[in-house]
Amino acid sequence: TKRVTVTTLQKMKEQNEPIAMVTAYDAPSAAVAEAGGADVLLVGDSLGMVVLGYDSTVPVTMEEMTHHTKAVSRKSQRALVVTDLPFLTAHLQKDEVLKAAARLLQEGGAQAVKVEGAHAVLSGIEACVAAGIPVMGHIGLTPQSVHQLGGYRIQGKDSETAQRLLEEAQTLEAAGVFALVLECVPEELAQRISQELTIPTIGIGAGRGCDGQVLVYHDLLGYGSGGRVPSFVKTYASIGEAARQGVHSFVEEVKSGRFPTEEHVFRLDPAVMEGLYG
Ligand code: KIV
Ligand code: NA
Repeated sequence: TKRVTVTTLQKMKEQNEPIAMVTAYDAPSAAVAEAGGADVLLVGDSLGMVVLGYDSTVPVTMEEMTHHTKAVSRKSQRALVVTDLPFLTAHLQKDEVLKAAARLLQEGGAQAVKVEGAHAVLSGIEACVAAGIPVMGHIGLTPQSVHQLGGYRIQGKDSETAQRLLEEAQTLEAAGVFALVLECVPEELAQRISQELTIPTIGIGAGRGCDGQVLVYHDLLGYGSGGRVPSFVKTYASIGEAARQGVHSFVEEVKSGRFPTEEHVFRLDPAVMEGLYG
């Protein structure tokens, strides 16, 4: 099977074919997301909240991103694997940014990295692009800046911030990013940015005008621990509830002695058994 590449995504934009990106954090989620037809697997640093139990993406380390990227890459065969540079990494000296991105490709097995922000991370992005490392941009709600943004809220609602986001998008395209995530921005702004750029935009909470959409795996599958999901999420399955019911049935059958039954046990050869009883 031929893998989706950054060129494939560019062609998809040109042919008006929507891009579907799904987060994946481990081998099983990578397998399911690919089997479901996702074009891009994003090893998002949302893994910090979704599978590691942190309360934001800020504590996520390079070690953790590498570990999870390896698991996704081992299983992935067809989708483009993109992985997040964790908090602060893209703001380091050029050499350090390059080393981190290279590690996620060489050791992690990803084909591209994603970087939050624009002007403050531009030199790092340019260094990666110059070194042959494809970079996906990410503007609007940038969760690594949650403490500065004052929460997870919509961005670009007034003319000044809307203008700034359009300008950031153009700056990132000029810097060579191959695609751009727009998170939590008004539909009209995301549409305007998508029309202005030649590279594909991938929206999350950014409406219908983007060239693609991304959702968090656990959110779209209803695989959470029961907490609420943002209003821009559509839930397509109830995996969390099915999992709770499954575990509950197991526990009940163990406690009532209904599991295991004949079909689940291994038997001893009668001669060996005789020996056991002397
Ligand atoms: O970490 C993540 O899951 C992301 C997507 C939501 C864009 O960055
Ligand atoms: Na992320």
